[in-house]
Amino acid sequence: MIYTEKDDREYKDKLRARIQQLKKERNAVILAHYYQRDEIQEIADIKGDSLALSRAARDTDAEVIVFCGVLFMAETACILNPNRIVLLPVKEAGCPMVDMITIDMLRQKKKEYPDAVVVAYVNTSAAIKAESDICCTSSNAVELIRSIKKKQILFIPDQNLAKYVQSQIPEKEIICWEGFCPTHIRVHEGQIRAAKRLYPDAEFIAHPECEPSVLALADYIASTAGMIKYVEKSKAKEFIVGTEYGILFELRRRNPDKRFYTPTEGLLCANMKLTTLGWLAHSLELMEYRIEVPQEIRIRAKRAVDRMLNVFADKK
Ligand code: 13P
Ligand code: SF4
Repeated sequence: MIYTEKDDREYKDKLRARIQQLKKERNAVILAHYYQRDEIQEIADIKGDSLALSRAARDTDAEVIVFCGVLFMAETACILNPNRIVLLPVKEAGCPMVDMITIDMLRQKKKEYPDAVVVAYVNTSAAIKAESDICCTSSNAVELIRSIKKKQILFIPDQNLAKYVQSQIPEKEIICWEGFCPTHIRVHEGQIRAAKRLYPDAEFIAHPECEPSVLALADYIASTAGMIKYVEKSKAKEFIVGTEYGILFELRRRNPDKRFYTPTEGLLCANMKLTTLGWLAHSLELMEYRIEVPQEIRIRAKRAVDRMLNVFADKK
């Protein structure tokens, strides 16, 4: 038997109907990051960057949070809203950058720099957040570090975001960890120059996880939500997009008259793409995979996340 496109559409429609039904029965909310597959972004109740999704998880009244993203995001939801059931549809959906730092490595580094304020990018495990002074996301890293009185900052684990922050605040001394995002480092300066030659009127927008030589060519640098806001305001009609291509779904939806190009083929985060409609339905059906953070870690990690949220308490 040949499985046709029509069969696929019917199968997905059935899954969508089942997801909607289960969502009601379980009193669940579906959160999705902008790097998720189009079909997941379509069915999500709330989409956003890491910061917006953390806030949504903190503020929801739903009993169950289904987090279509990667593990650190679901853990952050648990940290902020421990009275909810947090589900990650695919248990293997992690972020490789998170695994580029361990507690022992961090403790050793803290001994080397006893006066440094430890700023943890939200792309860290709950246990690493618990060992840190304050958290940040790509949308607030610069402003947050500017608000810290001490000069010396130990920024973990993304070296590119750390270097970007340093370039914006030269008066600080930022000690970089050597972590990186395997997706964003695939963007190269040469590809951007070539794309600019091909699309001379296009603006280049980039995520700060890209390397400094790439960011040097950017017209605008921001988190995923920041890029989406920028494109809506910009007068330009074409954009070269320096981040995971899942974001094109929301960019195109909001700006049907604008054109978007990725600098390199298949600029995808394999972990973000693991979540499918099938896994989402499975997750709600069996209430899997439940993410929990031990209380002792959760309380200390929450301190770091709350400090970040409190710096921007008056800003939505
Ligand atoms: P944003 O917070 O910009 O959505 O980024 C999350 C992330 O993992 C980027 O790779
Ligand atoms: Fe992690 Fe990079 Fe994927 Fe973001 S895009 S979740 S930083 S691997």
